[in-house]
Amino acid sequence: MERLFSLDNRLKTCASLVPYGARLVDVGTDHAYLPVWLLKNNRISYAVASDINQKPLDSGRLTAEKYQTENIEFRLGPGLETLSRSDNIDTAVIAGMGGEIIREIIGGSKLAKNLTLILQPMTKSEVLIKYLCDNGFDIITQVCAGTGSKYYTILKVKYTGDVRKKDKSFFYLGKLDLSDETCKKFVQNHIKNLENKSKGDSSLLPLIKELKEKLK
Ligand SMILES: C[S@@+](CC[C@H](N)C(=O)[O-])C[C@H]1O[C@@H](n2cnc3c(N)ncnc32)[C@H](O)[C@@H]1O
Repeated sequence: MERLFSLDNRLKTCASLVPYGARLVDVGTDHAYLPVWLLKNNRISYAVASDINQKPLDSGRLTAEKYQTENIEFRLGPGLETLSRSDNIDTAVIAGMGGEIIREIIGGSKLAKNLTLILQPMTKSEVLIKYLCDNGFDIITQVCAGTGSKYYTILKVKYTGDVRKKDKSFFYLGKLDLSDETCKKFVQNHIKNLENKSKGDSSLLPLIKELKEKLK
């Protein structure tokens, strides 16, 4: 059998937040690197690898076959809709999609409230964090990972039902440790994007100032 691949920084960080022994769904699995890697390293007990598109699902199946992976099932369909309660899934990874799509996936499923959610938005993390705050999901941990010149945030989230009003800056900073260099770079990217937008919308300037202050 082929030697097992390594995960890149982004997926490795997602993997590090998955509870040991989890029964996992990987939503939007594509190549299925994450569930295969977790299973082959005995980090989880079972995985549903699901995708809305057939081609990525087929590519995921090939990965599982190549590395002779057991305890993995592949399902075609959107979001968490491929699951039933009898699967006893306790953890969902939703990674590599835009923040707005992740928000829709969480909002569209009653199951989401019973799961540990590991979320890695490629864009619009602030939209996702606002949704989480407004809808009673608590951020347990938030970290960042860098791959090349790109920086991503990864959130571990649970539903508590506790809705707390947050300042706008919280949607950009969440629970990041701002003494961490990777987190700093992630926030600097937010600031750069906001500065570009502020050329046509000066109402963003106080927010930019606040974020810069927090980074000092
Ligand atoms: C860029 S890939 C990310 C693959 C992997 N999760 C990662 O982070 O490396 C995004 C995948 O999500 C799938 N996808 C997009 N929207 C989806 C949805 N609503 N439900 C399930 N899968 C979705 C796409 O078909 C695609 O395979």
